[in-house]
Amino acid sequence: QELQMNLEQIEKGGYDHFMLKEIYEQPNVIKDTYRGRLHANEGIIQMAGIEDNIEKFLQAERILIVACGTSWHAGLVAEYIIEEFARIPVEVEYASEFRYRNPIITSKDVVIAISQSGETADSLAAIKLAKEKGAFVFGVCNVVGSSISRESHAGAYTHAGPEIGVASTKAFTTQITVLTMIALRLAKAKGTLSNSDYFRYLQELEIIPEKVAEALLTNDKAKEIAAIYKDATNCLYLGRGYNFPVALEGALKLKEISYIHAEGYPAAEMKHGPIALIDEQMPVIVIAPKQGHYDKVVSNIQEIKSRSGKIIAIVTKGDTQVRGLADHIIEIPETSDALSPLITTIPLQLLSYHIAVMRGCNVDQPRNLAKSVTVE
Ligand code: AGP
Repeated sequence: QELQMNLEQIEKGGYDHFMLKEIYEQPNVIKDTYRGRLHANEGIIQMAGIEDNIEKFLQAERILIVACGTSWHAGLVAEYIIEEFARIPVEVEYASEFRYRNPIITSKDVVIAISQSGETADSLAAIKLAKEKGAFVFGVCNVVGSSISRESHAGAYTHAGPEIGVASTKAFTTQITVLTMIALRLAKAKGTLSNSDYFRYLQELEIIPEKVAEALLTNDKAKEIAAIYKDATNCLYLGRGYNFPVALEGALKLKEISYIHAEGYPAAEMKHGPIALIDEQMPVIVIAPKQGHYDKVVSNIQEIKSRSGKIIAIVTKGDTQVRGLADHIIEIPETSDALSPLITTIPLQLLSYHIAVMRGCNVDQPRNLAKSVTVE
């Protein structure tokens, strides 16, 4: 028993939970994921699975992304990035819905399956169906030799290392790293990004690990805020554009490890119903970085404030406007809009982690959940 305890302590690298260790591994595993693939100064992205099949991507009428849970959120971020950079239509599907609705798939489709475990039953079934209907299937997995990686025609691994915590963190950011490199590679091939923008994004992606490390310094602030809101019964997460999927992901993190009901919404959707929920008991987390529809998000914050909602805002370092409106702000380093999800998600991971710990929840193995849903 004693030995088992010590072994686990060593595996956690001194952290109280695997989830916290994995949150802090993100700067390094993002680097591991782009190492050997991203050559920013030379303007080269080299991923064998893409190079060998580049024509299939360039001739694709659309890219279908199938995934579940957090991987589905990474797919939503990828939709925005691939469509903006490479101008290829992208549709993101819950694998469980896709597989049962007799979807229209042709050989002109490229399907990207995103799965940390590579064993998720619905995702595996979805790509088998897509293959039967003639689509080219590209897998983005974290486990080498997993079922989905073997079933796919080609793929690219995230190099996040084993993710033990049931709540996915480093898998999410390394999935986005891979998908961003794919979008940039396709944009270069299609000439849909100016040379200067292309190089600028490569160089920014290369220093993202340093910005993630800086975002991790918000840990104490996140813990302070967690102590205030740990007994909330409901929570809203709002974001626009690239940060709408991050709002969904932040809400999922809180739900699955602290058991507090939380919902992610596009910030502008508030006035179509959800704003009726707002009262002084309801914490609203708003993702409001400088580079992402900032003025619109500020007006959404004002709407919430005038209904006495409690506002926790994720803002770009040095922000002054939101500071005057929100009850709490968490400051993160500035990034371009497209790369902001890699940073804005960090304080949300930390916030849900601390709330769950303060509520005495089993952070690494939340109730009712499995790390990989290998059954339907
Ligand atoms: C996310 O924190 C959950 N663990 C869950 O939603 C997970 O993302 C989902 O089950 C998909 O798993 P996969 O990436 O291994 O396919």
